[in-house]
Amino acid sequence: MAITAAITAIGHYIPEHILSNFDLEKMVDTSDQWIRERTGIEKRHIMKDGATSDMAIEAVKELCERRGISPEEIDLLIMATVTPDHTFPATAAIVTEAIGATNAWGFDLEAACSGFLYSVSVGAKFITSGQHKKVVVVGADKMSSIIDYTDRNTCVLFGDGAAAILLEPNEEGLGVLDESLHTDGAGKKHLHMKAGGSRKPPSAATVAAGEHYVYQEGRAVFKFAVTKMADVCEKVMKRNNLTGDDVRFLVPHQANKRIIDACANRMGVDSSKVMLNIHRYGNTTGATIPLCLYEWQDQLEKGDNLILAAVGGGFSWGAIYVKWAI
Ligand code: UT7
Repeated sequence: MAITAAITAIGHYIPEHILSNFDLEKMVDTSDQWIRERTGIEKRHIMKDGATSDMAIEAVKELCERRGISPEEIDLLIMATVTPDHTFPATAAIVTEAIGATNAWGFDLEAACSGFLYSVSVGAKFITSGQHKKVVVVGADKMSSIIDYTDRNTCVLFGDGAAAILLEPNEEGLGVLDESLHTDGAGKKHLHMKAGGSRKPPSAATVAAGEHYVYQEGRAVFKFAVTKMADVCEKVMKRNNLTGDDVRFLVPHQANKRIIDACANRMGVDSSKVMLNIHRYGNTTGATIPLCLYEWQDQLEKGDNLILAAVGGGFSWGAIYVKWAI
């Protein structure tokens, strides 16, 4: 049987500090009710000190412990993040050095909220090609470092967190089985950071204008996400002959509960089979999907069909079909 890339361990890190909807009521003109009804979020965790790599390091350490491997056994580490410690070097370099992954190479992959899915796709190819035996994919974001806490349109949505998965070869037909990934740069105007890149380098003026924060036209992104996430899930289900009953869990990016509900509804997947933790963490960008897998892993059994799905900045979107392997 052909080699597939299976998820064999998961680690995570959530910072301690909690920012509740009630805390936000004191900071901007919003209400707990508005946030819960429009997004499903009740609180989010915020990293007070430290960087994205600090969360990623803890997640990978836990992963290694749970799998019983030494970091030296890791061949490749891919970091999905929009909040790297620095523009360069890659956060993957910082993480591999800190954990002692001396035999690994690594890089960052930036695809906004779809970053984890894209990274799983890339990582899986190194397993199926036979080139590597242990690939770590980390989703980690310190969204609080790029959020304007005076902007109610965005500051209620995001939180900080990290989670990591290990991909290893499988010969039983389990693991990553199919994917449909997409990019459409026409969406860039609706969700972006205005300055800080080569088009508009940082300056006193860009800082004063608040151009280093997340800018989002929520309604336009919502409209796109609510149809595209369901479309891509349906497509992957159809070509793998899966009905809603065959899907053990939908593992959606956690941006808005209403988007997730609409997607599950179209897939014919009952709400009891949807991984949902947005109420506790908000949108942690690269970390949402692996955080769900971490929290639900004890409910999963070998052979379970999972559909991982995301839509995010770019636009970027996609779905991955995984047969659980452990
Ligand atoms: O992960 C990356 C991808 N991102 C997404 O998938 C996010 C997609 N978008 C969304 O989740 C939703 O669009 C939001 C949650 C961001 C906004 O919800 P909405 O139902 O689309 O609201 P809206 O943007 O259409 O705004 C409705 C009203 C506006 O007031 P007016 O213009 O009707 O008077 C906003 O100013 O709600 C107002 N509003 C708020 N009110 C209280 C916006 N944010 C807030 C807030 N508290 N925090």
